[in-house]
Amino acid sequence: MVDGTQHLLVRSHVARDLLQNAALFKTDKLVVWEYVSNGLEYVDPVVNPVVRVELDSRSKRITVQDNGRGMDWAGLENFFLMHGENVDRKLGRPGRGRFGTGKSAAFGIADVLRVTSVRNGRCSKVELRRKDIEAHNGEGPIPVNVLERDKPVSEPNGTVVEIESIHLQALDQPAIIRYIERQIARWPRNVTVIVNGQVCSVQEPAACREYIFKPTGSLLQRLGDVQLVVKVSKTPLDEEQRGIAVYSKGVLHETTLGGNENREMSQYIFGLLDVPALDDDRSPIPAFDLSRSMRLNPNNELVQSIHAFIGQKVDEVRRELVEEEKKRRRSEEARTLARRADEIARVINQDFQEFLERVARIRSLGHGVPERTGQQARSGSDQRDLVIGGDLPAQVIASTGGLGASGEGGNRGGTPRSINPEVAPGDANSEVRGRPAGGRGNRFGVSTGGFRVEFQRMGPEERRAHCLTDSRVIYVNLDHPQIVAAREGNNINDPGFLRLVTEVAFTEYAIALAHELASRGEFIDFTDPAVHIRETLNRVARRGAALYS
Ligand SMILES: Nc1ncnc2c1ncn2[C@@H]1O[C@H](COP(=O)(O)OP(=O)(O)O)[C@@H](O)[C@H]1O
Ligand SMILES: [Mg+2]
Repeated sequence: MVDGTQHLLVRSHVARDLLQNAALFKTDKLVVWEYVSNGLEYVDPVVNPVVRVELDSRSKRITVQDNGRGMDWAGLENFFLMHGENVDRKLGRPGRGRFGTGKSAAFGIADVLRVTSVRNGRCSKVELRRKDIEAHNGEGPIPVNVLERDKPVSEPNGTVVEIESIHLQALDQPAIIRYIERQIARWPRNVTVIVNGQVCSVQEPAACREYIFKPTGSLLQRLGDVQLVVKVSKTPLDEEQRGIAVYSKGVLHETTLGGNENREMSQYIFGLLDVPALDDDRSPIPAFDLSRSMRLNPNNELVQSIHAFIGQKVDEVRRELVEEEKKRRRSEEARTLARRADEIARVINQDFQEFLERVARIRSLGHGVPERTGQQARSGSDQRDLVIGGDLPAQVIASTGGLGASGEGGNRGGTPRSINPEVAPGDANSEVRGRPAGGRGNRFGVSTGGFRVEFQRMGPEERRAHCLTDSRVIYVNLDHPQIVAAREGNNINDPGFLRLVTEVAFTEYAIALAHELASRGEFIDFTDPAVHIRETLNRVARRGAALYS
């Protein structure tokens, strides 16, 4: 007999819930963006948002300060409510906020979250620490330490978020800035974000060509009357600049090449597509994903249509580029230059191999360079977001996708968000395999692979040389005024020209090597990179002396 008074209740273990949510914020840039976007979003009506970010790798600390509307006591209570309903969305103002992850994001990389907020002349300051969350037994709410409550102040509205005891070896400032720049590129109002004194400016790569595509047939029905802009960059793009940015009503959700990642010439392609229908999508399998992995849910039908449309059009453009590139390579001049490039690359790779062996020897001796393992070995931004299926080691962090969202956005808290498990990077022995989120592949990302040198005409305004860190290709710009000047009478066999391009490639290699080490947090003293670059230049110049004869 079932007693009618018996109830079976769904409960939640708040501490676990919080930490599981936090685990989705695996990188410094995701965490920083979470608080920056709050600062940009929750502002008083006439204010132009200004958010200042301080990154301090040495003291393992991040602060994010905004001039937003601030939070009073009730506002802070709402801020710390798990899966709280977004008040702005409820009032019919769609924005980026969806899942209420502000209270947990910091714990993806750190142990302390402190929020100081001023609203209408009252200041409150509260703090949450990982040890308090971990000590929680699962019954009832987790107490937040109150450091100050409603203290009268004369300061204007605004919030300061402090994140302390960060576990990452180093904070990747350039990657964080690039990430923010990409996010605010189409922000509907005038916003300013300053990271360690540097203003994030939205700079699109220079395009040499632009295509506009419109969907037809069934894609038109599903996507609506949208416009896909595909642009071809003059120079090869770094990983985070590549791909079509997918927006809905001005909110960026994903950057993708629709399956063309790592295909030939795809490193030149970028663009955008805004699909308003995405924000209104109410399918049982939701389009969005609370992991903020910058990835739409590939199980959602609308998302599948978006990917199909992008995939098809990007591939068309890409094939055109491949054909042109083939033609270019066939020319006599290109073949001569390619031979020279190979000679330079040979010297660079001999040096690189020796460098790797030397590092391995020092490590095996157990002094000098400290050995690091697992996630700690890499900087925040280096830990790629993974999804299931692929060849990268991964660990399952949840057996299905994230929880349902509450409120008007997402899926009204109904269904699991993805039918696939969620994964995070694992170690080499992990049984599960993942691939980078957003379809970013890793063919270029092999860390022991060597360098390649390419001579390209990128235009006189572009940099003299550029190394793509994921593929280790060093591009030398033949159009750079210095290199043009060295090329007397357009003769590519001119010794002055050949010496110069060799030197340019060597310099770029020395910088790229130092950059890789810096992004892995290998430099202890701030003068280290300069010393390292000088030593590398000296070594390759010595080894490549014959190329200057
Ligand atoms: N910097 C801020 N200034 C003012 N209000 C904020 C700020 N950050 C968060 N809030 C308030 O707290 C709520 C919860 O924030 P958050 O956890 O980031 O969730 P979401 O942004 O998804 O709503 C927000 O909806 C907003 O009302
Ligand atoms: Mg938010």
